Amino acid sequence: MCGIIGVTGTDGALDVIFEGLRRLEYRGYDSAGVALVDGATLWRRRAADGTHSVDDLVQTAGAAPGGATTGIGHTRWATHGGPTPENAHPHLDCTGQLALVHNGIIENHAELRVPLEGRGHVFRSQTDTEVLVHLVEEELAAGAGLAEALRRALGAVRGAFSVVVVSANEPDVVAAGRRSVPLLAAVGEGTGLVASDISALVGRAERYFALEDDQVAEVRPGSLRVVDLAGGPVEPTAVVVDPAWDVEAAQKAGFDDFMTKEIHEQPRAVADTLLDRRGPDGALVIDELRVPVDDLRAVDKVVVVACGSSYHAGMVAKYAIERWARLPAEVEIASELRYRDPVLHERTLVVGVSQSGETLDTLEALREARRSGAPTVIVSNVVHATMAREADGVLYTRAGPEVSVASTKCHLAQIVALDLLALVLAQWRGTMGPAAVGAELDRLQRLPALVEDALGRAKDVDAVADALAGARDYFFLGRHVGFPVALEGALKLKEISYLRAEGYPAGELKHGPLALVEPGVVVVAVLEPLQDKMRSNIAEAVARGATVVVVAPDGADVAGLGDHVLRVPRVDDPILAPVVTVVPLQLLAYALARRLGNDVDRPRNLAKTVTVE
Ligand code: F6R
Repeated sequence: MCGIIGVTGTDGALDVIFEGLRRLEYRGYDSAGVALVDGATLWRRRAADGTHSVDDLVQTAGAAPGGATTGIGHTRWATHGGPTPENAHPHLDCTGQLALVHNGIIENHAELRVPLEGRGHVFRSQTDTEVLVHLVEEELAAGAGLAEALRRALGAVRGAFSVVVVSANEPDVVAAGRRSVPLLAAVGEGTGLVASDISALVGRAERYFALEDDQVAEVRPGSLRVVDLAGGPVEPTAVVVDPAWDVEAAQKAGFDDFMTKEIHEQPRAVADTLLDRRGPDGALVIDELRVPVDDLRAVDKVVVVACGSSYHAGMVAKYAIERWARLPAEVEIASELRYRDPVLHERTLVVGVSQSGETLDTLEALREARRSGAPTVIVSNVVHATMAREADGVLYTRAGPEVSVASTKCHLAQIVALDLLALVLAQWRGTMGPAAVGAELDRLQRLPALVEDALGRAKDVDAVADALAGARDYFFLGRHVGFPVALEGALKLKEISYLRAEGYPAGELKHGPLALVEPGVVVVAVLEPLQDKMRSNIAEAVARGATVVVVAPDGADVAGLGDHVLRVPRVDDPILAPVVTVVPLQLLAYALARRLGNDVDRPRNLAKTVTVE
């Protein structure tokens, strides 16, 4: 997730920008860059040397212009185009007088780029961002001022963005605009700033403001003017910054820890993963997939390999791949696949799923698959990760970096990314027509709002967590796609609460584990799908005196079903339901762990990236 800072009216602008970038480092990045307005020219430095880019930048900035008071800085989390210096921001226009940084995704960048090139603009990167700087350049050439030029340019853009621009021709102005991606402004005595989040601004100004969607700000030393995309003036939304906030508190954006912040970022993670996936004819396109369409058409089996929560996302995908693409799908624990003799060949598509893209077990399973001649695709949240480099194709989740060890927003983003993969296979194999693919994409697009709705019910989960105080044994039950949800609920609970928790397919209960169900045991049952079958399994637990918590969609009859009900919004297609039903289970694990006083971000014995076998 990129980080942006812009300053004006600030002595030592470069130091303020570097300090801001350091405060934004926690968001994760793979390259960084700065530009300063130096009299009538622009000065720019960029670095893309892995994890120490801001430090590298500080090193290479030696010959920086001393007196500059206006500039912008950026940490980039690559999406379109690899993490190279050429793709790092700021991007310059053709005149070299204009510098621009961007966070988000420009959905129609390909269609905007063609006419811009036709009018003679020269592109120097593979990014979606670069169209923006040339669009602003054209508006400036037509006579607009900087903020006005940005406003007009943004009118042509589809997608999600926060964007900040400076020009050597207006050395006291920072212009900024946003849609769906956070951007804050701050004004102090003779200074003005903008940044992606409050951590970069804390302590630097007296007044803070949040830009809203489709607003454009003109920041000058000591002043802020905001208009909407139609050009009408608007009153900026003031933000109260808690005086007790230090940089770390600000990075958590007021949440107590990264885990709850990341749980609340899930609607955005899902929405961003779905962005920019439809071509001009409405067909599903996955730009980064790289594997030739003919190879994918020839596939006769899909094997998904992953670990932990990523494995559970793969299990959800099995149902989608089988139903939509009509392909046999297997899901394998990565550490198991490589030590048997898996039957893989050039028509087996092997899909690795990994938040980090570095997990050794998954990496080695993918290498094993490649040795067998199978085409490999990795679903990764990190663009330059080893697996993303080695696999034949990639599909990026765009959840932004996950700091908390327990995966939440990446898990949801993985499920929707794998749904996209299943749909693209269905589209190319012809098992679903364009209308059916389009209808499923529409349903996917409705998920972020449903996840938001589920998050809005956290108080219900808190009440259940209070009632469960003291319980130490949990079973999580589900059927069909509810089964991987149950596994994920159990995994979250054990990871951060250290309570015993097992996930089971509900129909399996009576084949053994029912012997363990007695008063004091908690059974968490995911009602959707196969509600009737689930009701029978829940009754088996109720009859043995378990405390039963049912996760049920709105409208489902839950009379007599258990002790507690956690309602979730109804999802149109049951295959997509896990994206919503897992949310109360994450919240429950979190609430129980907090009540036990555990460090939810850094659970004992666990690491975020597991590079050992
Ligand atoms: C669970 C969790 C782990 C990871 C697993 C795989 O909350 O975070 O189970 O899912 O270690 O990691 P990645 O996805 O990075 O390959």
